[in-house]
Amino acid sequence: MKALILVGGYGTRLRPLTFKCPKPLVEFANKPILMHQIEALVKVGVQEIILAINYQPDTMKEQINKLQDLYKVKIICSQETEPLGTAGPIRLAKDHIIKDNPDGLFFVLNSDIICEFPLDKLLQFHKQHNHEGTIFVNEVDDPSKYGVILADETGRIKDFIEKPQEFISNKINSGLYLFNVSMIDRIPLKPTSIEREIFPIMAKEGQLYQYILPGFWKDVGQPKDYLAGTVLILESYRTHTPDVLAKGNNIVGNVLIDASAQIDPNAVIGPNVIIGPDCKVKEGVRLKNCVLLKGVVINANSWINESIIGWSSTVGKWVRIEGVSVCGEDVQVKDEVYINQSFILPHRGITSNIYNKNTVIM
Ligand code: GDD
Ligand code: MG
Repeated sequence: MKALILVGGYGTRLRPLTFKCPKPLVEFANKPILMHQIEALVKVGVQEIILAINYQPDTMKEQINKLQDLYKVKIICSQETEPLGTAGPIRLAKDHIIKDNPDGLFFVLNSDIICEFPLDKLLQFHKQHNHEGTIFVNEVDDPSKYGVILADETGRIKDFIEKPQEFISNKINSGLYLFNVSMIDRIPLKPTSIEREIFPIMAKEGQLYQYILPGFWKDVGQPKDYLAGTVLILESYRTHTPDVLAKGNNIVGNVLIDASAQIDPNAVIGPNVIIGPDCKVKEGVRLKNCVLLKGVVINANSWINESIIGWSSTVGKWVRIEGVSVCGEDVQVKDEVYINQSFILPHRGITSNIYNKNTVIM
């Protein structure tokens, strides 16, 4: 079996983190988002993964080589000369997808979504109904920024409406599909949207089915959603693999800490905190609902809530950061500074308070 991951552009909505690396390589729960997906694909028997990309920075090449060795899976890049949308890249990669693929099946994944990836269930259901495509579907409170799905009780999709203006249903496209290779011929070799141009036709022809995604789901392509996704994956670890979570008198609720991080016993951590490799958290620090990426230092008595601190950043003493603030790579925050609801670009030094909402420090 094969899989194609729609990697696409750089991920501007996850800036300033995506100034350092493309969105799929940003760590989520201490692993690049892409790694969660590759791990799940390999587990269900996928032998070759095609990354559909618009560009290829060197950071990506290095990471791909590492992932190939780690998971013993072939990973190839299919590079577009112009953005081909969400369907065009499938057509572009046709030869790769059909070659040495006796099952005649392939998965397609949006690169910014996180869930428990129960791909075995998707595979089983797809083989059972035996039509051209199956979409994982889940429920959200606000479906307006997603693809909305209407299906009958057998799971056959009646209609697919991308980002509807009016409320139709709260069942949405999770961005995870399984197709028969025959569907590739529906796509022209030009910029094409799978959601707007291909799914509505497949639905009309009765070739598209839905399968309700078990477990949690989140599109983590924006800071607020990335933090919400953190809460969900930690809770999923609590349910399925509680041993990976941190324990201790200073730990509150669900917390994930890399083994190489140094946490002072007088720092109080949690709930919903993820601490990456080589981080240092000093005495009296209070962390809640936040993520520290690799190599972050938080000095004594600082408070961080609802924020993401980028790689190798240093936060001084008695600092307060909150309100979905995001620091890019290597940001230096001076002692006693207050930062609220702001994005700090990489390599900046912050010496005075930022009270204004949605400030971007260039
Ligand atoms: N290679 C390539 N080329 N990839 C692309 C291109 C392109 O031109 N355009 C978008 N992508 C990739 C993105 O990087 C992402 O992984 C995926 O295709 C979907 O694009 P998004 O821009 O993230 O779309 P969305 O989040 O607004 O909506 C999509 O995802 C929702 C679930 O999160 C749709 O599939 C919705 O129907 C769905 O509900
Ligand atoms: Mg998205």
